[in-house]
Amino acid sequence: MEVQNKIIVVGIGPGNPDYIVPKGLEAIRQAKFLVGGRRALAQFAADGQETCSITADIQGVMNFIRDKTAMDNVVAMVSGDPGYYSLLDALRREFPAERIMVIPGISAMQYAFARLALPWHDAVLASFHGRTPAAQDIAYRQGKILGLLTDSKYNSQTIAEILLKAGWPEVQTLHICSRLSYDDETIVTTTLGEAINLPAVSHCILIVA
Ligand SMILES: C[S@@+](CC[C@H](N)C(=O)[O-])C[C@H]1O[C@@H](n2cnc3c(N)ncnc32)[C@H](O)[C@@H]1O
Repeated sequence: MEVQNKIIVVGIGPGNPDYIVPKGLEAIRQAKFLVGGRRALAQFAADGQETCSITADIQGVMNFIRDKTAMDNVVAMVSGDPGYYSLLDALRREFPAERIMVIPGISAMQYAFARLALPWHDAVLASFHGRTPAAQDIAYRQGKILGLLTDSKYNSQTIAEILLKAGWPEVQTLHICSRLSYDDETIVTTTLGEAINLPAVSHCILIVA
């Protein structure tokens, strides 16, 4: 019977290696073929592992994975949790689910709520990372909690402007959570009205609560 090697997708958490689950770390250590962003590879790749960096050339990454799974398992590292805006989407379009094994990680979103000691079961989560959310997701409702991914275009300033236009009050509390889990982690608690005049913070998590 033909042996089907797996694509093991490991969520490496928000950044600090202390937040990877032991199973994920073990998979990374045992990998012969390791895929990941440049930062993750610099942090985790060991001598003897053949690596492939995730760049804009996603098809190149898929080709590497296809070639190498003919020989052994391939481990792909993604930030946070694989099920939440990661390479897993593209992998599922390219390979059948039976070939993919996911080891979950702590999402930056989950970590941000944890740092604020704020339950997230009622929160509306949306992404401004390379996209814009549906208007109804970010529409104002009293008591609504929003958790938002950002990028450099959609940052703490531009998103505050968008939310004010969507009817949120100026006095609404906004938590700007950046570099989560790293030594220089910063959480600034301000208001939407003030955030417009503060320096823009990008690639952070915004929590409106
Ligand atoms: C493509 S999404 C990936 C999300 C990831 N799969 C997860 O579960 O956290 C990238 C965005 O996640 C957020 N992010 C990832 N790591 C972060 C960190 N350490 N601190 C703050 N935000 C982070 C930022 O909004 C960043 O632009």
